[in-house]
Amino acid sequence: MSSPETSPAPIFPHRHLIGIEGLSPQDITALLDLADTYVEQNRRIDKKGAVLRGRTQINLFFEASTRTQSSFELAGKRLGADVMNMSVGTSSVKKGETLIDTAVTLNAMHPDMIVVRHQNSGAVELLSQKVSCSVVNAGDGAHEHPTQALLDALTIRRRKGKLQGLRVAICGDILHSRVARSNILLLHTMGARVRVIGPPTLMPTGIERFGVEIFHDMKKGLEDCDIVMMLRLQLERMAGSYVPSQREYFRYYGLDYDKLAAAKPDALVMHPGPMNRGVEIDSAVADDIHRSLIREQVEMGVAVRMAVLDALARNLPNDPSIAETAK
Ligand code: CP
Repeated sequence: MSSPETSPAPIFPHRHLIGIEGLSPQDITALLDLADTYVEQNRRIDKKGAVLRGRTQINLFFEASTRTQSSFELAGKRLGADVMNMSVGTSSVKKGETLIDTAVTLNAMHPDMIVVRHQNSGAVELLSQKVSCSVVNAGDGAHEHPTQALLDALTIRRRKGKLQGLRVAICGDILHSRVARSNILLLHTMGARVRVIGPPTLMPTGIERFGVEIFHDMKKGLEDCDIVMMLRLQLERMAGSYVPSQREYFRYYGLDYDKLAAAKPDALVMHPGPMNRGVEIDSAVADDIHRSLIREQVEMGVAVRMAVLDALARNLPNDPSIAETAK
């Protein structure tokens, strides 16, 4: 396997993708540029490539997912990998097997890449220390969701032509959001300015250390913004009452046309999904084909995940005789 297609040049000097933290502007740009090429491939009738031919990818999702899991599966298959979706609900995790034992067991089957989503912050990094393959974080607790931030960046860059200098508002449940954290890190690295908008109860302690502007009033916060990124109210992570009611939350923080009018006239709306319609976003705004990028974000998700898998695979040993044995 030494043809240019199967041995392209390394572009990403990291073994794993655990977070946006620690990535340079060059790392991010390299992934976005590669993802741009996969957008074109995905729009062709023949979407199949071979850069991951012979590679094995395991998707290990301990938490529910529609977009991330399906797009990682499509991404791997479109690149020619053998993709296995581990069904955690019917696995020995249900019999009490630990995360690490599960990882070491799968590692013994010589996968090249494991894509992991876990409900606990830090779990994916811990797992990455126990396996000999590359690991991709598909979302860990409230810590990071790096491929979401990359696909958001790709979506913005394709529409606005740049990231540098844009003003982006991230609105809603910042406290529980790994998407917010990864996006703040990425946007700052790429020279954008970030505002967070939400009720004080949904702002993490010490958020100001991230270098963001903080607003509790939607209309004031949206003034002069180029991008309005809405977040889901993460009810499943809320122990206790963070908002008086969903109806009250929508009144003050739900994005409708009245609040959107405070942003720039050409401001675009994003949401990582899944959406709570009528809670954090009005249906008409979410479905507005001129203002909403939500479906485009999903399309970019496949391309970005192809880029990440391709970039990591370029750093893996190509000669089977030098592949590391399972730890
Ligand atoms: N945005 C996102 O992570 O969606 P899923 O939970 O459906 O994967």
